[in-house]
Amino acid sequence: MNRIISILFLFLSTISLAQTWSNEVAPIFYNKCAQCHHQGGISSTPLTTYNEVSQMVYAINAYVTDDEMPPWPPNNNYQQYVHNRALSSTDKTTILDWIANGFQEGNSANTPPPPVFNDGAILGAGDLVVKMPTYTSKALAGHDDYACFSIPSGLTSNRVIKSVEIIPGNRQIVHHALIYLDPTGNEVTDSTGGDCSSPALQTTKLIAGYTPGATPMTLPSVAPLKLGIPITTGTDIYFAMHYPAGSFGEQDSTKVIFHFYPNNETGIRQVYAAAIIENWNFTLPPDVITNVSGSYPPGNNGLTNEISVLSVFPHMHLLGKDIKSFAIKPNLDTVKFIDIPHWDFHWQDFYFFKHMPYLPIGTTIKGNGNYDNTTANLENPNNPPITVYPGLNTTDEMFLIYFHYMTHQAGDENYDMEALMTAEVNNLLKDENTNGVSIYPNPSSNEFSINFEGKKGDKYSIIIYDTQGKIVSTIADKLIATNESITSTWDGNTTQGETAKKGLYFVSINLNGTFLSKRIIKN
Ligand code: HEC
Repeated sequence: MNRIISILFLFLSTISLAQTWSNEVAPIFYNKCAQCHHQGGISSTPLTTYNEVSQMVYAINAYVTDDEMPPWPPNNNYQQYVHNRALSSTDKTTILDWIANGFQEGNSANTPPPPVFNDGAILGAGDLVVKMPTYTSKALAGHDDYACFSIPSGLTSNRVIKSVEIIPGNRQIVHHALIYLDPTGNEVTDSTGGDCSSPALQTTKLIAGYTPGATPMTLPSVAPLKLGIPITTGTDIYFAMHYPAGSFGEQDSTKVIFHFYPNNETGIRQVYAAAIIENWNFTLPPDVITNVSGSYPPGNNGLTNEISVLSVFPHMHLLGKDIKSFAIKPNLDTVKFIDIPHWDFHWQDFYFFKHMPYLPIGTTIKGNGNYDNTTANLENPNNPPITVYPGLNTTDEMFLIYFHYMTHQAGDENYDMEALMTAEVNNLLKDENTNGVSIYPNPSSNEFSINFEGKKGDKYSIIIYDTQGKIVSTIADKLIATNESITSTWDGNTTQGETAKKGLYFVSINLNGTFLSKRIIKN
């Protein structure tokens, strides 16, 4: 009897200890999946509610087990980046255990309210908007489409860029967009063959990229660290667009919004964007894996200036297998930039460092990659494989590693770039969304009073999210309404008690299992 009771007890305690959607699992999906998996996002499979997720658990189990989702190619043990998308090992275990234990919902009234997504501009109207013409994708099943557009910026004076936001015209078909500055105005639009992936001139510089779920590029712009990229009169904006297989007939017109410093701003440090590592002299014979490398500067003496490095962007095409970049200092120490053990052409990005690596005089920058030109590479555009050379088409290959960098100043490596870049999200959109929630005053620089109608005894939670879907403050956690009219206050601070930055936030409410939301602007 005792034995039966203790077995029963064990069984009951496993049930009660098991994770539930409403307690442990929903916050992980909100934080790590929802920015792409929401209604209107890049993925056609929304994963923000228990119903949506529970119908997909078998696929989720497979993708999460294999680290295919969230997509995040860099090895985080090699270097640390801003906006890391990977699941922590604890989050991964929580999701997999939850699925293995029967993916229980728990009490829906306890589910934290989900983040709200803003598919318009996060950073606001900006100073210059450049839009490509409407393009109709030519990507039939089995073939991706790549098109390039060179558009005059119309700039009438030289300016300094502090932020760049790329807004896909059609979020469901823009797989990536790379934005270049062409100071010569000589690049040409190539939207004919669906195979254009890069500009032709060395003077054309890649400055920003969009991949689904990515955050706009926001350089720190407040003392002590004001960074900027100059753009000159007559510059053309070059868009390299990628539309995935099966998007044939769908239309897109992507735009890029530039934010400039005021003309009289002083103390701005110039950021350079350049393909420091490049190799245009290699041959990839069929049926073998070939190693390609690059080094900068030429000769044996290394860099002649001290440099702080902001970001790295490795670039290969479909035969890419892996790529690594690092630097060797004069004392032979290694500075690690990036290690992508499984190259994925579909998820290219600028990876901004959490802390800027410092390169002293005499340092040499290196890159090293492998290309798999065998039939084992499922992305190989040729079957049987043929010899492939460097070139601009997607079916040619490239070996490039871009960097954002600047002249070093003492203390650069101590800046917390994640905090500084996130703080740039300000200057925002008008409020428009009402669904029974009223907020007063809004905008406000101080307190917000949040009101909505319920029933006496209703359970409610209220969370303030930022535009990235990150929790800023939990202002009500499973409270019980004592009145029909529910009122709460956000004091404008984060949970850590710090003043929240100026900008756009979302208030998200769970009222007895029903979700309500509204935008808040703090100024
Ligand atoms: C950066 C964007 C992004 C993030 C973050 C992301 N995904 Fe995805 N996911 C995609 C894209 C794009 C696809 C493929 C296209 C589609 O589903 O329409 C995909 C596909 C999937 C699929 C296959 C869907 C299907 O219909 O077969 C699953 C399952 C999945 N993701 C789970 C997750 C989970 C779980 C997370 C979080 C732990 C996550 N994803 C995070 C972009 C993302």
